[in-house]
Amino acid sequence: MRVLSGVQPSGKLHLGNYFGAMLPQVEMQAEHECFYFIANYHALTSLSDPQAVDDYSMEVAMGYLAIGLDPERTVFFRQSDVPEVTELAWILNCVTPVPLLQRCHAYKDKVAQGLAANAGLFTYPVLQAADILIYRSHLVPVGQDQKQHVEITQDIQGKFNQQYGDVLVRPEPLIREEVAVVPGTDGRKMSKSYDNAIELFLPAKQVRKKIMSIVTDSTPVEDPKDADRCNVMALLRLIADEDERAAWEERYRAGGTGYGEAKKRLFELFIEKLGPARDRYDELDKNRDHVEAVLAKGGERARAVAREVMAEVRKATGIRISRAD
Ligand code: ADP
Ligand code: TRP
Repeated sequence: MRVLSGVQPSGKLHLGNYFGAMLPQVEMQAEHECFYFIANYHALTSLSDPQAVDDYSMEVAMGYLAIGLDPERTVFFRQSDVPEVTELAWILNCVTPVPLLQRCHAYKDKVAQGLAANAGLFTYPVLQAADILIYRSHLVPVGQDQKQHVEITQDIQGKFNQQYGDVLVRPEPLIREEVAVVPGTDGRKMSKSYDNAIELFLPAKQVRKKIMSIVTDSTPVEDPKDADRCNVMALLRLIADEDERAAWEERYRAGGTGYGEAKKRLFELFIEKLGPARDRYDELDKNRDHVEAVLAKGGERARAVAREVMAEVRKATGIRISRAD
């Protein structure tokens, strides 16, 4: 099975990304042939600062490598190292009905937020379809929010094959239902847009400050507490092992434990569990040439696949190029 997923370099990586996307993606490399990439062209639909696009791309690369992505096993690359993907996106645009894109939640939400929509935002799912189809991906592990984009990819693949023959492979979404939404420090979904994120690679002092700022209710220390409605507990449940999780639930039920104590333990666990990845991140940061080399190699491997598929797509669509490719 070929597995493919992309991540937009549009902000600093946080615990929501880690539990909701990065960890399950990296775990899949044990059993599948994985292609993971940094979707820097997609980031241009929302980021206009060139330095930010470049910096976040590097941070995402270092972040994935730090948490255990193995670039020998997994093809790990920048979207822009495979120019064929934008070529395919154009061709797919020509088989994509406009109403299909008009139905997209991501586009509709951004317009509703008052963001001036550029054409890139509108055709975003077509570029995503090209990302998926150009590597003949079978499985696309994504969060619930991306399900519609994979379904649109299936529609576009169907249209293309109907018109031009059996060239592209139908992908299936793999939705991670088991990871509930990771709450941020204010209890809403953790997100870089809400200023409630606990970033993975922040200096320890600032992590501590963020964790101590998690919003809790005003139940007195001695009273029992509702574990199911506590933002600290929600994070403890993700990060602590099973025995400790049960122990904290018992302490909440019994009363006599303050939220401050739970926060302190959460901070300790954060450092304990993420410490090795944070150390690797710092090392990679000092050796960015190595990270560049890893991405360059991944780009070559990805491009070799994309070239072959693109040659078939050109042949099927009557697009001839004069250059040797
Ligand atoms: P943000 O909400 O900070 O903009 P992204 O949308 O860039 O994050 O996140 C990339 C992926 O990380 C998402 O598709 C989703 O799978 C996962 N993710 C982000 N935030 C959370 C969260 N709070 N809980 C669970 N998963 C999350
Ligand atoms: N749109 C995805 C997100 O915001 C990122 C992405 C781009 C992607 N291309 C992809 C995900 C292809 C899966 C497959 O999270």
